[in-house]
Amino acid sequence: MSIINKAAAIGGGVIGAGWVARLLLNGIDVSIFDPDPEASRKVGEVMKGARRAYKQMLPGGLPKEGKLTYAKTIAEAVADADFIQESVPERLDLKHKVLAEIDTHAPANAIVGSSTSGIKPTDMQVAMKKHPERLVVGHPFNPVYLLPLVEIVGGQQTFPEAIEVAKEIYASIGMKPVVVRKEIEAFVGDRLLEAAWREALWLVKDGICTVEELDDIMRYSFGLRWAQMGMFQVYRVAGGEAGMRHFMAQFGPCLKWPWTKLMDVPEFNDELVDLIATQSDEQAHGLSIRELERIRDDNLVAIMEALSKQNKGKGWGAGALHKDYTRQLAKLAAKKVSGKVTAKAEAAKPAKKAAKPEKAAKPAKAVKVEKPKKKSGKKKG
Ligand SMILES: NC(=O)c1ccc[n+]([C@@H]2O[C@H](COP(=O)([O-])OP(=O)(O)OC[C@H]3O[C@@H](n4cnc5c(N)ncnc54)[C@H](O)[C@@H]3O)[C@@H](O)[C@H]2O)c1
Repeated sequence: MSIINKAAAIGGGVIGAGWVARLLLNGIDVSIFDPDPEASRKVGEVMKGARRAYKQMLPGGLPKEGKLTYAKTIAEAVADADFIQESVPERLDLKHKVLAEIDTHAPANAIVGSSTSGIKPTDMQVAMKKHPERLVVGHPFNPVYLLPLVEIVGGQQTFPEAIEVAKEIYASIGMKPVVVRKEIEAFVGDRLLEAAWREALWLVKDGICTVEELDDIMRYSFGLRWAQMGMFQVYRVAGGEAGMRHFMAQFGPCLKWPWTKLMDVPEFNDELVDLIATQSDEQAHGLSIRELERIRDDNLVAIMEALSKQNKGKGWGAGALHKDYTRQLAKLAAKKVSGKVTAKAEAAKPAKKAAKPEKAAKPAKAVKVEKPKKKSGKKKG
């Protein structure tokens, strides 16, 4: 169950709205700030999609949603939040401005997560003059309400305790936190994705394949393998009975052959942009972005559900987590239902006795980032 009482989302675009959806669907109140006059409509669209996906995961009903409030300023949004997720556009100057404001107005104990795809937390937390030690990168994957992974990265000023609390917070809303051991640009996920994307752009630019053919080559083959075992375990199996050592002996030397153009970046001129965009339009066969989003969500739920039945019913990989997450949400939903039933039953009873006072709700676990007692170089580097 969640350990957050109230969350704040700063930025409500593709990613910010995804965070809002995950938090609200876990029953957590969220206060959001986004200066875009269209923000509430856009967040509403994402919420619609997220509810639709969660209904497939939870045929017995969804938990009671948290309350969403639109704040007029960052100060108002973060005032009483114990977890804040920043998802503004990927520009260091903007991240600095927004994080400085969050830091000035947020409660001292609140954890601040940044959704940045690749900026190092050390470079962002310099703007936080009060409590830079509570900033972590919490890098999610789109759609945030369905994909469970969040990469957690600490900067030079981040306290180890902040990373631990962040892990607990993200896990409490059904996510799989993985702490990146050393701070580098683009972390792990985007470093891999960027390498693959760069190569894909070359393949299309050089006329080797179209965008549709490239996607087919991926989704009918190694894409399916990656979703369930990742890269290294798949290669271990591909090595046959001799496993990983044999695989490396056979394919390791190929890395030195001129198979890839990995380090060269194709120039994003009009010609390349037109080529990719036109082929992408053809590939969509008239489906709108919203329609494609729904197809993507249905497929993701179906894949996670299928994986949740594997491994003798214990679930495998993302499927094992999916099983736990849907169980957790179903419990939360049952609370809502039993609450409603009890209330109805009470209302139906003749008013003979005074109703028993309700038990006070358990307070959510306070999020605390304790400063280390000694100055002993305990800060994460
Ligand atoms: N799109 C992805 O697939 C993806 C995945 C993981 C992480 N990210 C990261 O998430 C962050 C947001 O990316 P996105 O794709 O959601 O961008 P986006 O352009 O869809 O959304 C950004 C939102 O921030 C709002 N904004 C602008 N200035 C603001 C301010 N001063 N205060 C509050 N809100 C403000 C904008 O109005 C917009 O709604 C970036 O750091 C990005 O690198 C993106």
